[in-house]
Amino acid sequence: MNLIDNGRKSWEWATSHMRIMGAIVNQHVNDKPLSGLRLGLSLHITKETSVLVTAAIELGAKVSLCSANPLSVRDDIVAFLSSCGVKVYAWKDETEREYYDNLKQVLENNPHIVTDDGANLHVMAHKNKTFGILGGTEETTSGITRLKALEKEGKLRYPVIGVNEAHTKHLFDNRYGTGQSTLTGIIKLTNVLIAGKHIVIFGYGNVGRGVATRARGMGAIVTIVEVDPLKALEAYMDGYGVKKIDQVVQNGDIFITCTGQKNVISEKHFKKMKSGALLANAGHFDNEIEVEKLFSSSYEHYSIKQYLDCFNINGRRIILLAKGRVVNLVAGEGNPPEVMAMSFANQLLSILHIFQHHKRMQKKVFSVPEKIDNNVARLSLKYLHISIDKLNAVQRKYAQSY
Ligand code: ADE
Repeated sequence: MNLIDNGRKSWEWATSHMRIMGAIVNQHVNDKPLSGLRLGLSLHITKETSVLVTAAIELGAKVSLCSANPLSVRDDIVAFLSSCGVKVYAWKDETEREYYDNLKQVLENNPHIVTDDGANLHVMAHKNKTFGILGGTEETTSGITRLKALEKEGKLRYPVIGVNEAHTKHLFDNRYGTGQSTLTGIIKLTNVLIAGKHIVIFGYGNVGRGVATRARGMGAIVTIVEVDPLKALEAYMDGYGVKKIDQVVQNGDIFITCTGQKNVISEKHFKKMKSGALLANAGHFDNEIEVEKLFSSSYEHYSIKQYLDCFNINGRRIILLAKGRVVNLVAGEGNPPEVMAMSFANQLLSILHIFQHHKRMQKKVFSVPEKIDNNVARLSLKYLHISIDKLNAVQRKYAQSY
């Protein structure tokens, strides 16, 4: 109970940087369009998430909430949201078992709509055959990939909107948000100087390019490792070194995974790295770095401090950050509120869309409707006090001519 006030102050702070959420709430608050909705959420429990949750409550929803990651919970936010009437099943540093038990608790509240980050709650809902569910939304690339696999096998049981597919989500949250917060997480944990460091980034999607831009801006020498020829070419033309992992593994000071793939850095790589190499993951799941192999191939392991672990492999020290889990949320506060506002505006409007239209939607993974995406872009510009021009009548006609 003594954490409620801290949580409320952080909620206020985030709210003041997420003005478009307030604008959306104000547009709809009189109609209470989410009345009667039981919303089940599995999200990183941050101050930004608390703004989404209170917005859904203001529009009439009843909310139950668990975390999308056992280590990304802020207990003061849990306390604050509990004081707002949310059923929260989460605490900082859950064990794996507690984490899954908490997902189950959310499903036991019989949600009509499931909003997830990573799709563990969606997958559990499908395994448990929980079918009062009308539809869902999914925040992240990794989760959408899993849901599309379910759809392909004809096993998806309700329509889902993939929020990550909105331009106003992945071009901003993933790139500028994770780009910044990944470096914040690494710096907060280690306090190492970025200038002059050889940083190897795995994956040149939106997250990888965001991290690369910020690392280069701070003076790092950045190399990209990619498997996709187009993205590799983009990285090259953006001025980065592009190499195979075996060509850089001996030289890197900091290795950052941003791929959504598993076993990207594995045992054979740990053995070649120089002493003191730092390993961090910016992807959703903790399988990009083969953490169990760090334990099995080292003869000594100790914690330097919480979330900073040293493994002694053949006399060399390999340092793992945040236990291989998503470093920006475990070691830092996650992505900044300005970009989370755009993602969560898409979430809120997608939840509303599903609630109003689920009967007409097939059991598929949908992109965020273009109207919502454009609306979020317009609102964001408005609150940044930026005006843009319009095409005149001649130009509109020209744009439609052949
Ligand atoms: N994912 C990345 N950053 C986040 C944040 N600040 N809150 C919730 N989910 C996030």
